[in-house]
Amino acid sequence: MELRHLVDLENVETEKIMNILTMAGAIMRNPSYYSDSCHAKVMATLFYEPSTRTRMSFEAAMLRLGGSVIGFNDPQNSSVSKGESLKDTITMVSNYADIIAMRHYMEGAAKAAAMFSRVPVINAGDGGHLHPTQTLTDLFTLIETKGRLDGLTIGLCGDLKYGRTVHSLIKTMSRFKNNKFVLISTPELNVPDYIKSFMDKHGCEYKQAASLESEIGGLDVLYMTRIQRERFKSEEDYNRQKGVFILDSEKMKKAKSDMKVLHPLPRVDEITYDVDDDERAMYFKQSEYGLYARMSLILHILENGDKRLDRRPQPNTEKCCGNLKCITHFEHYLPKIEIDGKCGYCESKLL
Ligand code: CP
Repeated sequence: MELRHLVDLENVETEKIMNILTMAGAIMRNPSYYSDSCHAKVMATLFYEPSTRTRMSFEAAMLRLGGSVIGFNDPQNSSVSKGESLKDTITMVSNYADIIAMRHYMEGAAKAAAMFSRVPVINAGDGGHLHPTQTLTDLFTLIETKGRLDGLTIGLCGDLKYGRTVHSLIKTMSRFKNNKFVLISTPELNVPDYIKSFMDKHGCEYKQAASLESEIGGLDVLYMTRIQRERFKSEEDYNRQKGVFILDSEKMKKAKSDMKVLHPLPRVDEITYDVDDDERAMYFKQSEYGLYARMSLILHILENGDKRLDRRPQPNTEKCCGNLKCITHFEHYLPKIEIDGKCGYCESKLL
């Protein structure tokens, strides 16, 4: 199936994902071969929310493929600050760019953008929902460092509630055989219900845990995450959660000799700096792998040529999304859509 947009990897066949990862390896090993592959193509990076790695690696990816980049990294410098809607912004940018990478603070925003865009939209993170290109980065890192995507015991530690990278990673790694998840968090920051339902539906083995120290010895991969300060209702709520799980070199002594530590970054205090020198710490290499994963993704999406995308009918509903951070509560012209009994934008319960 052709890859039109990348909103959620759930809608991408495993074969396509593997092709993207294989090509990422080929690009990494011979970048000059691909240096003119996107000649005369333009990518728009629309970042409504701060970023270092995702925006810069997308921009570097397009430039290293011979293309060009336009866009904004602060919506206050665009007509969004004058009240322009997401629909109108996307419609305009579709006139100027061949492909859009968008990060937004509202959950489901990428789906909404894809509905109105006439060029492919890549979800570069939508609030606390999903971050599929981080998952491509993570999978490529696992292939390069563990040599496989199956039979792994993966510990996910920290903010599993708001950590969009965690949600995308679980959804995607659930499709590979014999992976087990150890969800290490406080009760308040455990994974959302729709992720638990997803694991249950796909027969995925997982357990919840409250101690990193007691679990680390059984892990093949430890995926550390930052407590997502910007998603909390109050500073007090955040302060109650920060600093609960910290990986340091003492805990690393209990880990397997071939365990790998991943982190989408940025880190705050959840990994101490002495861990950086441990050869099992992969997080900086991981961010480099993200460049090749995104170069490959751009090539896969643009291989469909210059044709303009049509709008596809969506399964409408009268019900409202129960998630107050869903894009439907802010961009009121959006049709309400229902997919598998959930909000078609952010996967939350419909009311
Ligand atoms: N991993 C990640 O999304 O980092 P940025 O927020 O810096 O893009």
